[in-house]
Amino acid sequence: NWQISDIVQDRVEQIKSVLDDDANVLIGLSGGVDSSVAAALIQEAVGDRLTGIFIDHGLLRQGEAEQVKKSFSQVFEFPIKFIDASQRFLGQLEGVSDPEEKRNIIGREFIKVFEQEAEDLENVTHLAQGTIYSDVIESGLDQNAALIKSHHNVGGLPERMELNLLEPLREFFKDEVRRIGEELGLPEDVVWRQPFPGPGLAIRVIGEVTREKLALLRKADYIFREELQNSGISDKVWQSFAVLPDMKSVGVMGDTRTYGYPIILRAVDSEEAMTADWVKIPHELLDKIAGRIVNEMEQINRVVYDVSSKPPATIEWE
Ligand code: XMP
Repeated sequence: NWQISDIVQDRVEQIKSVLDDDANVLIGLSGGVDSSVAAALIQEAVGDRLTGIFIDHGLLRQGEAEQVKKSFSQVFEFPIKFIDASQRFLGQLEGVSDPEEKRNIIGREFIKVFEQEAEDLENVTHLAQGTIYSDVIESGLDQNAALIKSHHNVGGLPERMELNLLEPLREFFKDEVRRIGEELGLPEDVVWRQPFPGPGLAIRVIGEVTREKLALLRKADYIFREELQNSGISDKVWQSFAVLPDMKSVGVMGDTRTYGYPIILRAVDSEEAMTADWVKIPHELLDKIAGRIVNEMEQINRVVYDVSSKPPATIEWE
């Protein structure tokens, strides 16, 4: 009967065994649980022969880059480089509306940036990622699994890569990853952070991603998060977010017709993201949130709450 401390020790030894004594590791950090726990594990194994890269792909939520920077400075001892690559990612996404294509572009651009950064450092042999087992299954790479969506860090990777991948959490589900994170002493707000997909808001702006649409989604998402936080519900739901669909609907304002975007709100409870139930947020709270969104955002004339579970829906809309 394995204890979590044995699993951590075993992983640390395994990481040591695949790396040469003078090899350096680059890790892509998203600010999320998986990559943070992977980093903490690798730090245990190689100490400062680890460099973190946080890429701002222009698809983050409001205030996220600053918040992640602050949190990392309190948690990790190895150097972390922050890169603003938003021009590059948003440029590549221009005119693209297919969800799988968006994921592939994002996966590929992440790797390009990592490979470029690796060239500036001495003897980097491995790129570490916080890939977990559900990413592998949903990308259709596990035996018997069908492709649901290519998680940007698995199915979305380019075929040829210069760096070897180091993915110490590839066999674990999220609750195990969280327990490993706790064992390694990561703070609660890191370990219990809600999941956020690597492709970020690109898969929550349905269809083509533009800066204008991103700005709308960011604002609505912020209002939703703020209200959930204030009501104390945030900590109880597995994941909650807003989605901006690629369509408009007719509304009325005063005595004028409007034609604006709707905002979709989604909150789910989940076991490992493989299945999920929609959360019964109190109607009064939904009313308050919807009221704030349409009052504070001229372009939004309708708010919709998603009452679908997984299956048959997935958690994200793309
Ligand atoms: P779905 O939509 O497949 O989501 O039910 C399951 C969980 O995975 C997250 N997700 C992703 N995470 N890259 C990621 O890193 C991706 O491409 C991706 N797609 C979905 C989603 O937010 C949910 O937590």
